Amino acid sequence: MSGNNEVRARKAIQNISPYTPGKPIWELQSELGISRIIKLASNENPLGPSPKALEAIMCSLPDIHRYPDSSTTNLRQAIAEKLDMKPQQLIISNGGDELITLVSEAFLEPGDEIIVPAPSFSEYEFGALLMGANVVNVPLGESYTFDIDAIVNAVTERTKLLCICSSNNPTGTYLSQSVLHHLLDVLPKHILVLFDAAYSQYATAADYTNGLEFVRAGYPIVVLQTFSKIYGLAGLRVGYGAAPESIIQQILKVKEPFNVNALAQAAASAALHDTGTYACLYK
Ligand SMILES: Cc1ncc(COP(=O)(O)O)c(C=O)c1O
Repeated sequence: MSGNNEVRARKAIQNISPYTPGKPIWELQSELGISRIIKLASNENPLGPSPKALEAIMCSLPDIHRYPDSSTTNLRQAIAEKLDMKPQQLIISNGGDELITLVSEAFLEPGDEIIVPAPSFSEYEFGALLMGANVVNVPLGESYTFDIDAIVNAVTERTKLLCICSSNNPTGTYLSQSVLHHLLDVLPKHILVLFDAAYSQYATAADYTNGLEFVRAGYPIVVLQTFSKIYGLAGLRVGYGAAPESIIQQILKVKEPFNVNALAQAAASAALHDTGTYACLYK
């Protein structure tokens, strides 16, 4: 017997459609019968993973009968040293996507509001809908720049989260250091800024900020970083959040114990220190 039940899913998820990812290369290959495909949709690293990450994975393989380190101690330590932060200011996640979900789970109540400059990355909306919160979209201004006045005007007593993607997916526009500073100063202190810096390593503008200086200064901000883009590890699913310790402690409460697998932890630690340049696969 199938399709005959009265099981009801949560009301909140009735507004959610399953995520549709960019079409994988193998699917297009089999559909069109062509072999050489350059995929741009998911901003993966076309150079492939770091050889040091591959080596670290090989070294970790014999231990995969063990659960991974649930505290991701070595990786957090490595990132903390690189960023001049404390490991307690970091949480490692199953990709940046999971960080967005964890932040939503930790801070959003039904009826709360999140502000999202639009268009932007779709996962902020997913996190809000999952928790029964409402999304307030603030259209980007001229030339797709952030409309700071409109963002500030959109704040209400129910606003819990402001999601800023800088550089923004899909427009590539960014928020300058001074404008982010201004925004953090004028926002009411109960609002957490989720600052998505997934593409920070590609930004070259002198006034660009990856937001970490504001974490160090203690502002209510969570900076999202990922190993999926410049570090070439999208298939392993590993990213992290950097935030003041008190905010990390709240997010840790909703994290699953073994959210980041052992191979991902080892590869990310190795990739972090690999500053070598590699030949492009598509030459
Ligand atoms: C802006 C932005 N943030 C976060 C992510 C999440 O990346 P991941 O979950 O692979 O770490 C992506 C991936 O496309 C992205 O474009």
